[in-house]
Amino acid sequence: MERLRVVGGARLSGTVRVFGAKNSALKLMAATLLAPGESKITNLPAIADVDYMAELLTRLGCSVKVNNELHEVIIAVPKKLGHRADYDLVRKMRASINVLGPLIARELVAEVALPGGDAIGSRGLDFHINGLKDMGAEIHSEHGFVIARASNGIKGAAITLEFPSVGATENIMTAATLATGRTTIDNAAREPDVVDLGEFLIAMGAKITGLGTHTITIDGVKELKPATHATLADRIVSGTWAFAAAMTKGDITIENGRVDHLEVPLDKLVEAGAVVTTTSNGFRVKMDKRPIAVDVATLPYPGFPTDLQPMVIALNAIAEGTSLVTENVFEGRFMFVNELLRLGANIQVDGHHAAITGISELSAAPVAATDIRAGAGLVLAALASDGITIIEDAYHIDRGYPDFPVQLQSLGADVTRV
Ligand code: UD1
Repeated sequence: MERLRVVGGARLSGTVRVFGAKNSALKLMAATLLAPGESKITNLPAIADVDYMAELLTRLGCSVKVNNELHEVIIAVPKKLGHRADYDLVRKMRASINVLGPLIARELVAEVALPGGDAIGSRGLDFHINGLKDMGAEIHSEHGFVIARASNGIKGAAITLEFPSVGATENIMTAATLATGRTTIDNAAREPDVVDLGEFLIAMGAKITGLGTHTITIDGVKELKPATHATLADRIVSGTWAFAAAMTKGDITIENGRVDHLEVPLDKLVEAGAVVTTTSNGFRVKMDKRPIAVDVATLPYPGFPTDLQPMVIALNAIAEGTSLVTENVFEGRFMFVNELLRLGANIQVDGHHAAITGISELSAAPVAATDIRAGAGLVLAALASDGITIIEDAYHIDRGYPDFPVQLQSLGADVTRV
């Protein structure tokens, strides 16, 4: 397994460029299945998950050309698609489940292996399944697969989600684009990724209103056409750089970063003592003292994103004062805390609360990344420790952060693959 070697103590400074969001790009790629012909996704991040999704689409019959230099992918979608997504690929990334909506809409049948993805707690599919059932699909699970069939076609329905799930909103929205009649999704996810996907679907000819609000309305159309779309900039990668600046007494300009997608996390950084300013095409985060501890509760967008929770725990671990971080989205996300304890952090976990007492410096030690964001959080913690930290299972980080060690080096950090 690949490891990262991080030397603590550097003050990160300089400019980093942020590309498209993993959580948008993968969904945009899956949505191209809705229209035969050639679609193009630009501003693509060069990450491992893009290659997994390319392989998945290839197995469904598409011809996929990823160009990492140009940051784009061209996907030629055939008139007749395969309908089976196998476990060997699906287990590698949760976003594979996003082929379910497009496949059931186009082929009226889909067999998708139950997904794996990050080890961040139980990640059910009941909202996806109940929504598609309301639209006329018959769904059961068999031998590790979700098997969905809509022999009488997909029909519009009024659906209320129990929780504003990102994935369920996306699968229901994509399936609804080719349904007969109107679908409404109440308590829909409002994440920018969902809006980005919706805008791509509109470019393909879908009729969708209410993106970014609690209620999305989709009027089904007979067919969609291929389209070209630029992936939205990655707010979680941008946010990670913002925390990196705040934790290393650094000064980082984040090109393409969107402050409007990071209002709560950036407010928290200001509360912690950072100075955040907007630039002509992004924003800048500067910190010249030890951070002050901040209380945070993760929530669906526009709340504090669960994907930045490891970063705020890492910041609080070296901050002045005590803080409480509450995880409301994924129950298993505190696994990361055990790794921080190895670095000497003072954290008590009780259920979905973590109480953190900041210490002035962490103590370098071998640790392991348990998921993409935990991995990035560990890199930040390692940068704020007193020696050399080896991070095992660093492949997780490559799934979400393009060229992370290279970008860190360009900001003055000593981070290498070993
Ligand atoms: C997506 C993101 C992930 C991010 C999360 C929340 C991708 C590939 N991943 O994950 O990085 O952390 O949004 O912003 O885009 N749930 C159910 N039943 C369901 C669906 C979800 O119980 O059918 C629960 C989950 O277990 C979790 C919560 O709802 O506790 C939120 O999950 P959801 O918003 O669906 O997250 P993902 O789409 O999996």
